Amino acid sequence: ALQYAILYANTAIIACDRFSKDFVAVPNIQKRIESILSDAVVAAFGPEHADADPLINPTKDPKFGDYQANLAMGLAKKLGQKPRDIATAIVEKIDADDLFSKIDIAGPGFINLMLTQETVNQSAETILADLDRLAVAEVDEKQTVVVDFSSPNVAKEMHVGHIRSTVIGDALARIFKFLGHDVIKQNHVGDWGTQFGMLIQYMDEMPEADREAHEAGEGDTLNTIYQKSKQRFDAEDDFAQRARERVVALQAGDEETLVVWQKLVNESETYFDAVYKRLGIDLSLDDIKGESFYNPRLGNVIKDLKTADLLKESQGADVVYPEGFKDRDGNPMPMIVRKSDGGFLYATTDLAAAQYRINDLNADRIVYVTDSRQSQHFSMVFQTLREAGWAPSNVRLDHVPFGTIMGKDRKPFKTRSGETIKLVDLIDEAESRAAGILADKNPDMDTDTAAEVAHTVGIGCLKYADLSNDRIKDYIFDWDRMLSFDGNTAAYLQNSYVRCMSIFRRGEVDPSSLSGAKILATEPAERLIVLKLLQLPNVLQSVADSLEPHRLTNYLYELASLYHSFYEKCPVLKSEGETKISRLALCLLTAQTISNGLALLGIDTPPQM
Ligand code: ARG
Repeated sequence: ALQYAILYANTAIIACDRFSKDFVAVPNIQKRIESILSDAVVAAFGPEHADADPLINPTKDPKFGDYQANLAMGLAKKLGQKPRDIATAIVEKIDADDLFSKIDIAGPGFINLMLTQETVNQSAETILADLDRLAVAEVDEKQTVVVDFSSPNVAKEMHVGHIRSTVIGDALARIFKFLGHDVIKQNHVGDWGTQFGMLIQYMDEMPEADREAHEAGEGDTLNTIYQKSKQRFDAEDDFAQRARERVVALQAGDEETLVVWQKLVNESETYFDAVYKRLGIDLSLDDIKGESFYNPRLGNVIKDLKTADLLKESQGADVVYPEGFKDRDGNPMPMIVRKSDGGFLYATTDLAAAQYRINDLNADRIVYVTDSRQSQHFSMVFQTLREAGWAPSNVRLDHVPFGTIMGKDRKPFKTRSGETIKLVDLIDEAESRAAGILADKNPDMDTDTAAEVAHTVGIGCLKYADLSNDRIKDYIFDWDRMLSFDGNTAAYLQNSYVRCMSIFRRGEVDPSSLSGAKILATEPAERLIVLKLLQLPNVLQSVADSLEPHRLTNYLYELASLYHSFYEKCPVLKSEGETKISRLALCLLTAQTISNGLALLGIDTPPQM
């Protein structure tokens, strides 16, 4: 363990140790190629084409060069010329000093670009000199991004659905921050509404002994109390009546009622906090802006809607009709903002929350992470915000919908008795399964380390399974697959990291000695690793644009796979001189990219496993 601690410390030292050699290579090579191609287009066809996207992509197969530009076809249409002629004209104007060793035109008009060996080597050296950020620059235009995620409901158990919002939202928040944005997390906890009348009334009528038992943590949990109060509410008219009166009291700010409500909220928040801690999610009390926070603002929402001339009446309720929404009969679809009894709704709170985020938090972008069943709700809220002029067009609003977690039988994931699965139970099981697998693999590990590694691997796999699936699709929850050491899993990447780093121990090489190392990525397998490393800035940007974390998991998986074939083909410790140094540096770069990449997804890397 001590050895690992030293190894870690060394890595950290290199991370802040920049060296002074002047580099030709820029961190984001793809951006540089884009601007070179744009200049070539302007030189060939005039400044009116300055905006044409050069459509640069890394190639999948080295026989097409390292990057391919795909813009000739589009320009050809505009200019009424043959794509190949367009491509030829662009290539003639490419002014890129020593960046490319080969440029050719393929197929109908693809431009294939091969980087010089010098560019490849120097680019890798640039990354090596900046292991902290892996040469990923911060964005030029910093934004304030509000991420609304997790958002469980008070007095209800956090269930498997909340894990998706929590894990996806956390990863997005980390990536925005890394890219240089100001991130404000907002946990829109469901802590207000009619259900609290029922709950408070039930607790009020609970036998003293039961309440004491609950408070001592020995009786019914809050979740059970919630279920029982709901049963009573549905079965007993007079109880239901008293519960409704309680709601009125709560909304009118009756002190005694508020005291009980606050107790419930606090108890739930302590519970959520414990879950976040176990998951390694940094969502503090400061980040909680629950529905109750907006309660004092709801009256104003109605007033403002009226001023904006959007408020209509329908069967005694206040509604808006956002443009473009029709019901099944083709009639305008209402979004209710105040019921006929005066009660406000989920949508009203979201309108108030958006006003607050745009006006008070100065949000340039708001990202809402909830399951896809809420898509229509958010579309209607967004449309209303636009029509009312509360969200000007330069404020970007994104709903980040995700699919349902399914069991192996492709039915909604439930316990054997048909109940929803508690998030804490999933966490327990992830850890104990990981512990079992690791004990088989590595029976000699001491108990404390083993427990820590099992936690890192178990939680990592749980999160990774969620993040690596195409977000919008339903996904099948499969313990064996998610904890496998082969395939696209956290365990595979964590293990790849450990194997990369073990080279330094076996070779008795101090990783910090590689600071300033010369890279010679001449073997195809070496070159492929460097080209992959160069893609990181674009991958992260594409996650921020598309809000799809699986683009990053795929990237890391591909990098680890390239590393394994490099490791097979290119001996590291058995090589010598400059080659050995360069290969060791490639191991370090790969390890650091895997661990930084996983960290951006909220996943840790164990020092051994
Ligand atoms: N509490 C809600 C639920 O569990 C999610 C809230 C999402 N955020 C929002 N601003 N509506 O379904």
